Amino acid sequence: MRALKRAIGLFMLLSVVLTTASLQAQEQRKKSGVIQELEKAIAGRENEPAEKVFKNIKMLKGIPAIRVLRIMENGFSPALGVKCTFCHVKGEWDSDEKPEKETARKMMKMVGEIREELKNIVDEKATINCYTCHRGDVEPALRPKK
Ligand code: HEC
Ligand code: HEC
Repeated sequence: MRALKRAIGLFMLLSVVLTTASLQAQEQRKKSGVIQELEKAIAGRENEPAEKVFKNIKMLKGIPAIRVLRIMENGFSPALGVKCTFCHVKGEWDSDEKPEKETARKMMKMVGEIREELKNIVDEKATINCYTCHRGDVEPALRPKK
């Protein structure tokens, strides 16, 4: 009887672990799927200036188009701990409908200004980015987390 209970317990634990793992894998696939689609859409034009390849670039002008996708995927999203749709209307990447997108532009400007100021305070190498404040959160912390 006890052995049976233990076997059932083990089975349930295993299925929870497996479900969580497969959900995570699904999430991963979905996310990289969006990026893959966008990569396909700009294929052959990866190194052209971002503003020529995309429709509504105001801040990230002059950098290769592919870098915009890398910034979105590896910079903004993980820095704030959010999905693309925190700032974007799904599938309408050029739309400015979500106020968070405009806020992100203002944040980019602020980061540029802080970087300039840092050079005067410390040295040329000193820098910050979105993660410096956000640390995977929409709201930067004001005190150490317990
Ligand atoms: C924190 C906000 C934020 C997040 C999160 C974010 N983006 Fe963006 N995205 C922006 C901003 C701001 C711009 C415009 C940049 C500019 O004006 O130079 C932009 C521009 C873009 C563009 C160019 C669209 C066009 O045609 O002008 C694409 C494509 C894009 N993002 C895809 C993504 C994808 C995919 C993700 C998720 C992996 C993502 N973004 C996550 C803020 C965000
Ligand atoms: C110097 C610190 C600092 C840096 C660097 C910084 N942020 Fe922020 N950001 C904040 C603070 C503080 C808030 C306000 C959070 C709150 O209390 O709602 C904020 C808010 C935001 C919001 C609005 C969230 C909402 O609830 O609507 C977005 C979007 C954002 N930041 C994006 C960015 C991006 C993208 C970068 C990098 C380009 C960045 N931030 C860099 C401090 C920073």
